[in-house]
Amino acid sequence: MNRRQFTQALLAMAATGAGGASRAADAGADPLRPDLSRYTTQDITVGGQTLRVRAFEGLPTVARPLEPAYQAINLYVPEAYFEGGHIGAFEARTAPIFLPNAVGGYMPAKPGTLVNRMPPPPGQAALPNASAVALSRGFVVAAPGARGRTLQAVDGRWTGKAPAAIVDLKAAVRWLRHNAGRLPGNVDRIVSNGTSAGGALSALLGASGNHPDYEAELRALGAVTARDDVFAISAYCPITNLAHADEAYEWQFQGLREYRNVAISMLDFRVQRKEVVGQLDDAQRALSAELRDGFVSYVNRLGLSTEDGRGLTLRPDGSGPLRDHIAALLQASAQQALDAGQDLSGTGWLQLHEGRVQAVDFSGYARGVGRMKALPAFDGLALETGENQLFGDSRIDKRHFTPFSARHSQVPGAAQADAATVKAMDGMQQLADARSTVARHWRIRHGSVDRDTSLAVPALLAAAARRRGATVDLALPWGRPHSGDYDLEALFDWAESMVRGST
Ligand code: DHB
Repeated sequence: MNRRQFTQALLAMAATGAGGASRAADAGADPLRPDLSRYTTQDITVGGQTLRVRAFEGLPTVARPLEPAYQAINLYVPEAYFEGGHIGAFEARTAPIFLPNAVGGYMPAKPGTLVNRMPPPPGQAALPNASAVALSRGFVVAAPGARGRTLQAVDGRWTGKAPAAIVDLKAAVRWLRHNAGRLPGNVDRIVSNGTSAGGALSALLGASGNHPDYEAELRALGAVTARDDVFAISAYCPITNLAHADEAYEWQFQGLREYRNVAISMLDFRVQRKEVVGQLDDAQRALSAELRDGFVSYVNRLGLSTEDGRGLTLRPDGSGPLRDHIAALLQASAQQALDAGQDLSGTGWLQLHEGRVQAVDFSGYARGVGRMKALPAFDGLALETGENQLFGDSRIDKRHFTPFSARHSQVPGAAQADAATVKAMDGMQQLADARSTVARHWRIRHGSVDRDTSLAVPALLAAAARRRGATVDLALPWGRPHSGDYDLEALFDWAESMVRGST
């Protein structure tokens, strides 16, 4: 179909409600083909320019949802694409599809809209909405919801435990493919985006395309049968690799006694953070050392390398090429800040000389940012973390998910999630499984002062994606705390150049 024919087909669909008389009959029969005559018009302003958008909201992505409000998608399309127009280099048939998930804290997330749900931190300017910026750049936006760890049905069963959220995102990708050609947007150019838990899910979507692990659950929900791989993923501070994140945390904060623990509670992006200051006692320090040793073994077993082929290993004392690699990423980030005119002289862990960052003291860095989480950081011994709740099942709210914490549990009779469930939720493990289709392009950002997880987590994720043949753009933006969507122009420049580079 050429461009003119495609536009005419779209116009016919819009006129009849579902793409001609015979398609209209299909639409009645197939609840997963939306009625395209039902939309609202929204005018959005981005960078002083106004854009008219058709909004198709709350469309179900599976035939048998457990949580209809979350297993749904909002679709936003520039009006120009229904009129044969173009935005930049894109038109209805070629427009990439931006797929942002709104997940935070592994909590339930309703489909995103063109207005940010999360208010900016006190004293900071509101960030532009990523989907609105995407539309202004000519992307079609498909914003899926996802179930999360606190959802419970009326009969008391938990409905959003791992791996529910990734299953929902996959169902949404399949739904897009099911509707390919009826809707503007190129389903072979889906670019996923997310922050924190949402960043982990975005990475997992890119790591686990078409993997059979999810098939039974997708089928039970009535997801369509279609591919669920994506073209590219953007992940801000992904809280991933949960099977080894505790070890990575102890490796990074080795020897630090004080932690400033932040209890996060959140519903649909209303974040509450409460700080608790504590000290690791001697018994905890022994556990910390055990976890750190575990990390060294894990890293050396992975057998990953840098772009230029240097092995990302560690020595028993925690030093070695992986640490040097992360220090180099910090150094590059500091250099950028210095070049932009920032004064870094008070940092304490950077060696500066005549406008150059010459060396990074990684232990000094860790002391400087400080440890935020108690021990273990993710699989709490008292089942107290959000991740413990993520790894519950339909009957049990909270479980362990690492053998270490199960062994040291303080909760009598505490259960442990099975290895298959942990893997289904883990981008690192899916990247190591040749049966997955891996996104071709990855962009990972983790702020230099983000202590929610170790810097080793994004570094290893990047190396694992690269090993599967992906192009990976990894950086640790200077001074950025745990957050995302703070560099949207750069994000869409990257996405556009990946799309342009692969015709
Ligand atoms: C998030 C932050 C965390 O520290 C964590 O352990 C899980 C999720 C978040 O912000 O999404």
